[in-house]
Amino acid sequence: MVSGYQAVSGLTIRSLEREDLPAVLEIERLSHSHPWSEAVFLDCFRSNYRLWALVREDVLVGFAIVSHLHDEAHLLNICVHPDVRRCGAGRYLLRHTLAQALRDDAVCMILEVRESNDPAASLYLSEGFEEIGRRPDYYPAGQGREAARVLALTFS
Ligand SMILES: CC(C)(COP(=O)(O)OP(=O)(O)OC[C@H]1O[C@@H](n2cnc3c(N)ncnc32)[C@H](O)[C@@H]1OP(=O)(O)O)[C@@H](O)C(=O)NCCC(=O)NCCS
Repeated sequence: MVSGYQAVSGLTIRSLEREDLPAVLEIERLSHSHPWSEAVFLDCFRSNYRLWALVREDVLVGFAIVSHLHDEAHLLNICVHPDVRRCGAGRYLLRHTLAQALRDDAVCMILEVRESNDPAASLYLSEGFEEIGRRPDYYPAGQGREAARVLALTFS
């Protein structure tokens, strides 16, 4: 469901700014085996991208990045600081990105998730995403490559 989501106590969401990048890079480094570089984040500051900052007491504790192409929203990255996980922050941020994508006239959101990333997949599936395919060798991995599950949620 993409409307009527509730905030999590103490957390707010605002637009992500370039000034947030040091904190973004730190959370990214703590969260992924193969983190995005600063250059990749900088390349996301485009008119067809939506960048969201999850904030607690003025400190960045998470972020989400969505690109829009035609009527499709693509969730490219979502991360919550390890110290803030498992208290509803990720779901709050995801629901915000979905609601905003709907506002931006997207008809669906798609994303890729590593086959081994059960926490994230569990979050997406519990929000109504469905698996629509797989991309073999999509991600770099410790040894070789890892496949992605492709998930989609159609707004209706
Ligand atoms: C995925 C992520 C954003 C979830 O953030 P979070 O704040 O912990 O999520 P929430 O507390 O809102 O939990 C929402 C749901 O996610 C799932 N989930 C989260 N962590 C989980 C874990 N360790 N094991 C299993 N399920 C988990 C559960 O379904 C949970 O619902 P529940 O609390 O009712 O069981 C966070 O784990 C993260 O930043 N991971 C690293 C980055 C990443 O993998 N991003 C996704 C890339 S596709």
